[in-house]
Amino acid sequence: MSEKQWNVAVVGATGAVGKEMLEVLAERDFPIGELRLLASARSAGDFLEFKGESVVVQELTDDSFEGIDIALFSAGGERSKAYCPAAAAAGAVCIDNSSAWRMDPEVPLVVPEVNGDDIARYAGKRIIANPNCSTIQMVLPLKALHDFSRIKRVVVSTYQSVSGSGQKAIDELRIQSGELLNGRPADHKVYPHQIAFNCLPHIDSFLDSGYTKEEMKMINETRKILGDRNLRVTATTVRVPVFYGHSESVNVETEEKITVEKARELFAAFPNLEVVDDVAHNCYPMPIDAAGHDMTYVGRIREDDSADNALNLWVVADNIRKGAATNAVQIAEILVEKHL
Ligand code: A2P
Repeated sequence: MSEKQWNVAVVGATGAVGKEMLEVLAERDFPIGELRLLASARSAGDFLEFKGESVVVQELTDDSFEGIDIALFSAGGERSKAYCPAAAAAGAVCIDNSSAWRMDPEVPLVVPEVNGDDIARYAGKRIIANPNCSTIQMVLPLKALHDFSRIKRVVVSTYQSVSGSGQKAIDELRIQSGELLNGRPADHKVYPHQIAFNCLPHIDSFLDSGYTKEEMKMINETRKILGDRNLRVTATTVRVPVFYGHSESVNVETEEKITVEKARELFAAFPNLEVVDDVAHNCYPMPIDAAGHDMTYVGRIREDDSADNALNLWVVADNIRKGAATNAVQIAEILVEKHL
């Protein structure tokens, strides 16, 4: 990494992803000059820890970005839409975790292990988009297969943890679980139904087509990241009562046959992808094991006998780390090393 230091703003620093961004920046020793923590007026004046020092939180305004080189955004789509242009105009490069800019043709949508070279196209709007958490973990094994034999169709069902909906949802699952286990009724505010001891086939809002926005993100973002507009993808996204870590059942149909052995070999050779697949010893990826780690885990690798060239996979990763904070910091590392 270059010796130069960079002034970094974290927008949404008090949120579930923002706090993890601080952890990851510290762990990876990102070369930070000034660190500016931004959130709503509610949090202005609060302090957060970074490398053992207290840093004050400031209110996000149009004037927040003077002197900033890199702005990591994770304060929701409305804030990204409103403030990324101001940050870019002030000279920062924005790495945006929201869905606001992902499908903009001028904005690269990047998972470094898959299409890290697309970061070179950052200069158009000075915004780089971090994909949806469920998309990020799925495209790692897909890319490993796609490079060997073109993928024709993907059918995915997700089992997504509540941390993907932010700190309030983490609190809601914890409180509901406690109330219900103590025989008391449980309130719900974040989700339209009780999430404790339940599954909700509903993530983000419904569209006229009957799909949710989350499902369409998985479809459209996968095509953009893999650079294949004709890729057929369908998704069902489900919220489950898990705190950290998303799981996915992925069915992949390829042009040529890929054997289970070959798939294992391709996955094992792919960066930051780990095969956990020893069913004789009840070994498969699980969210409790993935939580707190940056790897994406793939297991239950088996042929789908109902189609010609198809595999079934089970893919798990920590949605707050690889699905959000770590992926954003990886992008920042490549940006400063190769492009700024
Ligand atoms: P705050 O804590 O001040 O509300 P999460 O995804 O965990 O809910 O976190 C959302 C993040 O986005 C928090 O840091 C939150 O700050 C921030 N945020 C929410 N609304 C605004 C706003 N209007 N302006 C700036 N930051 C905001």
